[in-house]
Amino acid sequence: MNWYEKAQENLKIIQEDLPDRTRLHLMDENKDKEVGKLTIQIFPYDKYYYATAFFIDADYRGQGWGRKMMKQMTSLPRFQDRPIILNPEPYGGNIGSDEYNQEIEDLKKMYRKLGFENDVDNWMIYKGKNR
Ligand SMILES: CC(C)(COP(=O)(O)OP(=O)(O)OC[C@H]1O[C@@H](n2cnc3c(N)ncnc32)[C@H](O)[C@@H]1OP(=O)(O)O)[C@@H](O)C(=O)NCCC(=O)NCCS
Repeated sequence: MNWYEKAQENLKIIQEDLPDRTRLHLMDENKDKEVGKLTIQIFPYDKYYYATAFFIDADYRGQGWGRKMMKQMTSLPRFQDRPIILNPEPYGGNIGSDEYNQEIEDLKKMYRKLGFENDVDNWMIYKGKNR
Protein backbone atom coordinates (compact mmCIF):
# COMPACT_ATOMS: atom_id res chain seq x y z
CA MET A 1 0.00 0.00 0.00
CA ASN A 2 1.51 3.36 -1.00
CA TRP A 3 1.28 6.55 1.08
CA TYR A 4 -1.70 7.82 -0.89
CA GLU A 5 -3.75 4.66 -0.39
CA LYS A 6 -2.86 4.72 3.27
CA ALA A 7 -4.00 8.34 3.58
CA GLN A 8 -7.28 7.46 1.88
CA GLU A 9 -7.81 4.55 4.23
CA ASN A 10 -7.34 6.84 7.20
CA LEU A 11 -9.58 9.56 5.85
CA LYS A 12 -12.11 10.29 8.56
CA ILE A 13 -14.56 12.43 6.65
CA ILE A 14 -17.50 10.55 5.27
CA GLN A 15 -20.51 11.86 3.51
CA GLU A 16 -23.84 10.91 4.92
CA ASP A 17 -25.77 8.56 2.75
CA LEU A 18 -28.81 10.82 2.37
CA PRO A 19 -30.51 11.40 -0.97
CA ASP A 20 -29.88 15.16 -0.76
CA ARG A 21 -26.28 14.75 0.56
CA THR A 22 -26.27 17.98 2.51
CA ARG A 23 -24.49 16.89 5.65
CA LEU A 24 -20.91 15.82 6.27
CA HIS A 25 -19.98 13.77 9.28
CA LEU A 26 -16.52 13.57 10.73
CA MET A 27 -16.03 10.15 12.28
CA ASP A 28 -13.35 9.11 14.77
CA GLU A 29 -10.50 6.79 13.84
CA ASN A 30 -12.63 3.67 14.30
CA LYS A 31 -15.43 5.22 12.25
CA ASP A 32 -17.93 4.45 15.01
CA LYS A 33 -18.33 7.82 16.75
CA GLU A 34 -19.29 11.14 15.21
CA VAL A 35 -16.85 13.87 16.26
CA GLY A 36 -17.91 16.63 13.89
CA LYS A 37 -20.53 17.77 11.42
CA LEU A 38 -21.33 20.38 8.81
CA THR A 39 -24.82 20.89 7.41
CA ILE A 40 -25.90 22.98 4.44
CA GLN A 41 -29.62 23.57 3.99
CA ILE A 42 -31.33 23.92 0.66
CA PHE A 43 -34.53 25.86 0.12
CA PRO A 44 -35.69 25.22 -3.43
CA TYR A 45 -36.57 28.71 -4.66
CA ASP A 46 -34.08 30.70 -2.61
CA LYS A 47 -30.99 32.32 -4.07
CA TYR A 48 -28.68 31.07 -1.32
CA TYR A 49 -27.63 27.87 0.43
CA TYR A 50 -27.47 28.11 4.22
CA ALA A 51 -24.75 26.62 6.41
CA THR A 52 -26.68 25.86 9.58
CA ALA A 53 -24.51 23.58 11.72
CA PHE A 54 -20.75 23.46 12.02
CA PHE A 55 -19.33 21.62 14.99
CA ILE A 56 -16.14 19.75 15.86
CA ASP A 57 -15.75 17.84 19.11
CA ALA A 58 -13.44 19.78 21.50
CA ASP A 59 -10.76 17.03 21.38
CA TYR A 60 -10.53 17.37 17.60
CA ARG A 61 -10.50 21.16 17.25
CA GLY A 62 -7.55 23.11 15.93
CA GLN A 63 -6.29 20.23 13.78
CA GLY A 64 -7.63 21.41 10.46
CA TRP A 65 -10.75 19.20 10.36
CA GLY A 66 -13.17 22.12 10.21
CA ARG A 67 -11.32 23.62 7.28
CA LYS A 68 -11.22 20.27 5.51
CA MET A 69 -14.96 19.74 5.94
CA MET A 70 -15.80 23.25 4.72
CA LYS A 71 -13.54 22.78 1.70
CA GLN A 72 -15.11 19.43 0.87
CA MET A 73 -18.61 20.89 1.19
CA THR A 74 -17.99 24.02 -0.87
CA SER A 75 -16.35 21.90 -3.59
CA LEU A 76 -19.37 19.63 -4.10
CA PRO A 77 -20.79 20.13 -7.61
CA ARG A 78 -24.28 20.57 -6.21
CA PHE A 79 -23.32 23.73 -4.30
CA GLN A 80 -21.70 25.63 -7.16
CA ASP A 81 -24.71 27.55 -8.46
CA ARG A 82 -25.60 29.76 -5.48
CA PRO A 83 -23.64 31.59 -2.76
CA ILE A 84 -23.55 29.93 0.66
CA ILE A 85 -24.45 32.17 3.59
CA LEU A 86 -24.25 31.79 7.36
CA ASN A 87 -24.71 33.72 10.55
CA PRO A 88 -21.76 33.12 12.93
CA GLU A 89 -23.23 32.19 16.30
CA PRO A 90 -21.38 30.68 19.26
CA TYR A 91 -22.88 27.52 20.74
CA GLY A 92 -23.83 28.55 24.29
CA GLY A 93 -22.77 31.64 26.24
CA ASN A 94 -24.67 34.74 27.32
CA ILE A 95 -26.16 36.49 24.32
CA GLY A 96 -25.18 40.16 24.30
CA SER A 97 -22.28 39.82 26.76
CA ASP A 98 -18.85 41.18 25.79
CA GLU A 99 -17.50 37.64 25.78
CA TYR A 100 -20.25 36.44 23.47
CA ASN A 101 -19.72 39.35 21.08
CA GLN A 102 -15.99 38.65 21.07
CA GLU A 103 -16.69 35.00 20.17
CA ILE A 104 -18.77 36.19 17.22
CA GLU A 105 -15.85 38.34 16.06
CA ASP A 106 -13.47 35.37 16.44
CA LEU A 107 -15.82 33.16 14.41
CA LYS A 108 -16.01 35.84 11.71
CA LYS A 109 -12.23 35.89 11.57
CA MET A 110 -12.25 32.12 11.16
CA TYR A 111 -14.88 32.17 8.39
CA ARG A 112 -12.88 34.83 6.54
CA LYS A 113 -9.95 32.40 6.62
CA LEU A 114 -12.26 29.76 5.16
CA GLY A 115 -13.22 31.98 2.20
CA PHE A 116 -16.33 33.79 3.48
CA GLU A 117 -16.79 37.57 3.26
CA ASN A 118 -18.73 39.94 5.51
CA ASP A 119 -22.24 40.66 4.29
CA VAL A 120 -25.11 42.68 5.77
CA ASP A 121 -25.54 42.64 9.56
CA ASN A 122 -23.76 39.58 10.92
CA TRP A 123 -24.23 37.50 7.79
CA MET A 124 -21.29 36.10 5.91
CA ILE A 125 -21.23 34.93 2.34
CA TYR A 126 -19.17 32.45 0.34
CA LYS A 127 -19.22 33.35 -3.30
CA GLY A 128 -16.70 30.86 -4.62
CA LYS A 129 -15.72 31.02 -8.27
CA ASN A 130 -18.91 30.78 -10.30
CA ARG A 131 -21.47 32.21 -7.91
C1 LIG B 1 -15.76 26.32 14.67
C2 LIG B 1 -15.18 24.91 14.60
C3 LIG B 1 -16.16 23.97 13.88
C4 LIG B 1 -13.83 24.96 13.84
O1 LIG B 1 -13.32 23.66 13.67
P1 LIG B 1 -11.75 23.32 13.79
O2 LIG B 1 -11.54 21.93 13.30
O3 LIG B 1 -11.29 23.63 15.16
O4 LIG B 1 -11.10 24.37 12.76
P2 LIG B 1 -9.69 24.24 12.01
O5 LIG B 1 -8.72 23.53 12.90
O6 LIG B 1 -9.90 23.68 10.66
O7 LIG B 1 -9.26 25.78 11.89
C5 LIG B 1 -9.34 26.53 10.70
C6 LIG B 1 -8.82 27.95 11.00
O8 LIG B 1 -9.76 28.67 11.80
C7 LIG B 1 -9.19 29.06 13.05
N1 LIG B 1 -10.21 28.87 14.10
C8 LIG B 1 -10.82 27.71 14.45
N2 LIG B 1 -11.74 27.92 15.40
C9 LIG B 1 -11.72 29.26 15.66
C10 LIG B 1 -12.45 30.11 16.54
N3 LIG B 1 -13.42 29.64 17.35
N4 LIG B 1 -12.18 31.43 16.52
C11 LIG B 1 -11.21 31.93 15.71
N5 LIG B 1 -10.49 31.18 14.85
C12 LIG B 1 -10.74 29.86 14.83
C13 LIG B 1 -8.00 28.15 13.24
O9 LIG B 1 -7.02 28.76 14.05
C14 LIG B 1 -7.52 27.95 11.81
O10 LIG B 1 -6.78 29.06 11.35
P3 LIG B 1 -5.31 28.86 10.70
O11 LIG B 1 -5.56 28.12 9.42
O12 LIG B 1 -4.81 30.24 10.51
O13 LIG B 1 -4.52 28.04 11.66
C15 LIG B 1 -14.90 24.36 16.06
O14 LIG B 1 -14.00 25.21 16.70
C16 LIG B 1 -16.18 24.24 16.89
O15 LIG B 1 -16.86 23.22 16.83
N6 LIG B 1 -16.50 25.27 17.71
C17 LIG B 1 -17.69 25.26 18.56
C18 LIG B 1 -18.98 25.36 17.74
C19 LIG B 1 -19.08 26.63 16.95
O16 LIG B 1 -18.82 27.70 17.44
N7 LIG B 1 -19.46 26.49 15.68
C20 LIG B 1 -19.62 27.60 14.76
C21 LIG B 1 -21.01 28.12 14.84
S1 LIG B 1 -21.28 29.44 13.67
